[in-house]
Amino acid sequence: MKAAFVEKYGPPEVVQIRETPRPLPGEGEILVKSHATTVNSGDARVRALRDPGGMKLLMRFALGFTKPKQPVIGFDVAGEVAEIGVGVTGLKVGDRVLASNRFKFGCHAEYVLIDSDGVAVKIPDNLTYIDAIALPFGGATSLVFFEAGGLKAGDALLINGASGAVGVMAIQLAKLMGAEVTAVCSGANAALVRELGADHVIDYTTNDFTGQSTRYDLIMDTHGNAPYARVRHVLKPGGRFLMVIGNLWEMISGGWQKAVVSPRDDKAAVSVKNYAYLLDLASKGEIKPVVDHVYPFPDIVEAHRRVDGGHKVGSVVVSFDEN
Ligand SMILES: NC(=O)c1ccc[n+]([C@@H]2O[C@H](COP(=O)([O-])OP(=O)(O)OC[C@H]3O[C@@H](n4cnc5c(N)ncnc54)[C@H](OP(=O)(O)O)[C@@H]3O)[C@@H](O)[C@H]2O)c1
Repeated sequence: MKAAFVEKYGPPEVVQIRETPRPLPGEGEILVKSHATTVNSGDARVRALRDPGGMKLLMRFALGFTKPKQPVIGFDVAGEVAEIGVGVTGLKVGDRVLASNRFKFGCHAEYVLIDSDGVAVKIPDNLTYIDAIALPFGGATSLVFFEAGGLKAGDALLINGASGAVGVMAIQLAKLMGAEVTAVCSGANAALVRELGADHVIDYTTNDFTGQSTRYDLIMDTHGNAPYARVRHVLKPGGRFLMVIGNLWEMISGGWQKAVVSPRDDKAAVSVKNYAYLLDLASKGEIKPVVDHVYPFPDIVEAHRRVDGGHKVGSVVVSFDEN
């Protein structure tokens, strides 16, 4: 089978597609034949060893000192169960699934082994593989942050970076929960975020929400240029700051600020419960997958370039299907 290898940290061009043996599922494991995956902002961070500030050493410890310990990255896959190991229940060969190995990665490959600790959830018949794969990165992240931040009906929520993979899901999930949503993105994406349900839109190229008089119950920063210190004065008393991205100092100092919410348990986000919930909502038309562009697998370097640009709209998808 073919897989995309990252054998040194660097620009998109370090990604190389090579032949590698197709894995065999062991006990409790399933082998998924990939139809679609994403290159998400986390994958691009790992590939480039691009830290949000002050965390390079920590990243090297976690991911590999001089090169990625797991050279085949990729967080999620949508595909077909090709083989099943002993002891697997609830899935059979041929089932269409959305699956992840969390930070063990491995999804930028034609076949992906999902281990017994991973997540695999059946995709409803009315969703395509591309629909399914566009949901979990932003969707599961938003769910876990909203739960930790106690988002509830009637809350005023501002999302900074509202048209990215996290933002487009955050808008839709927050609206379903009954929040009043203000979306911050460039004017080019204003119509999209309104269509997804945003009540108010602020174009960051012409307006700075931190200089306005409106106050929010929650502020979610997915871009990294609106840290707590910069936005705390536009939070209502008792308001919460959802730090999706932050540098080392913001992470450390956030730890002793009651208002700062930064859940780091990947098992809470990437769970069967969250994946099934997102698929169910999409299947009923209650949330909409947003796809920036679909790249054929041989063009995965282009997909990394698009993500590095910092202005993708929703998810960058990589397809393993011909046409
Ligand atoms: N903590 C966690 O568990 C977790 C989980 C998932 C992701 N993340 C992190 O979340 C971040 C966002 O991921 P993503 O995939 O959603 O990113 P993305 O798709 O690249 O989204 C970028 C967003 O930022 C906006 N933006 C660009 N410049 C801006 C500016 N100056 N001010 C305000 N907004 C601006 C873009 O809007 P325009 O295109 O309109 O400019 C777009 O909406 C990444 O850093 C990722 O690593 C963290």
